[in-house]
Amino acid sequence: MRRIQMTEHSLLKQLEPADAKEMFWLTDTNRSYLRQWLPWLDYTKRVEDTEQFIRMTMNQYSNNQGIHYGIWYKGRLAGTIGVHNIDWINKKTAIGYWLGAQFQGKGLMTNAVSAYMDHLIFTSWGLEKVTIQAATENYRSRAIPERLGFHLEGVLRRNEFLYDHFVDHAVYSLLRSEWEEIHRRKKMLD
Ligand SMILES: CC(C)(COP(=O)(O)OP(=O)(O)OC[C@H]1O[C@@H](n2cnc3c(N)ncnc32)[C@H](O)[C@@H]1OP(=O)(O)O)[C@@H](O)C(=O)NCCC(=O)NCCS
Repeated sequence: MRRIQMTEHSLLKQLEPADAKEMFWLTDTNRSYLRQWLPWLDYTKRVEDTEQFIRMTMNQYSNNQGIHYGIWYKGRLAGTIGVHNIDWINKKTAIGYWLGAQFQGKGLMTNAVSAYMDHLIFTSWGLEKVTIQAATENYRSRAIPERLGFHLEGVLRRNEFLYDHFVDHAVYSLLRSEWEEIHRRKKMLD
């Protein structure tokens, strides 16, 4: 399984069927908190549903369409990060993520998105552009691309149906040239 060590205590590790039990527990114990912003909670009722999702991500990986990682913090599964298929023709992709509520506030997701871009999107895969979409009122999620220097491209109106209502999406993007510039500046400061 592929892995990326982020800090002494945090690690990205490719999701595998053996993670299904812990991932389902994390989902099930965070159901109402996650349901506010994610559309798939009602389709995840049993460990087998989580295992099916993990197998889907493994197929995605085999088809060269991106990888889903579990985010591990001090040996516990804290959340996940992955991409929604890669558009190889236009050299771009979109990142999606979530954390259990108890793992918020530690910079885990900001670090995970940054590591994902450093190791895969702009390096191994050589893509030109990455996007992150979040509901306009999902301020914690929007803060992640904002913290990492993404640009706000605009708002997609009534873009997602969440159980009983539509939400608008803010669309953020980062280009390869911008990512290189951020790294160049970081190096100068080191
Ligand atoms: C979106 C979500 C992942 C954001 O989680 P988060 O903990 O706010 O994000 P991070 O892990 O990057 O942590 C950032 C927080 O840690 C703090 N932090 C501590 N150390 C940090 C570090 N080294 N780097 C960055 N931030 C750090 C930041 O100040 C920030 O806290 P604040 O909001 O109180 O200022 C989480 O709220 C979530 O999963 N929500 C439900 C599902 C969801 O909305 N998914 C996204 C759909 S688009």
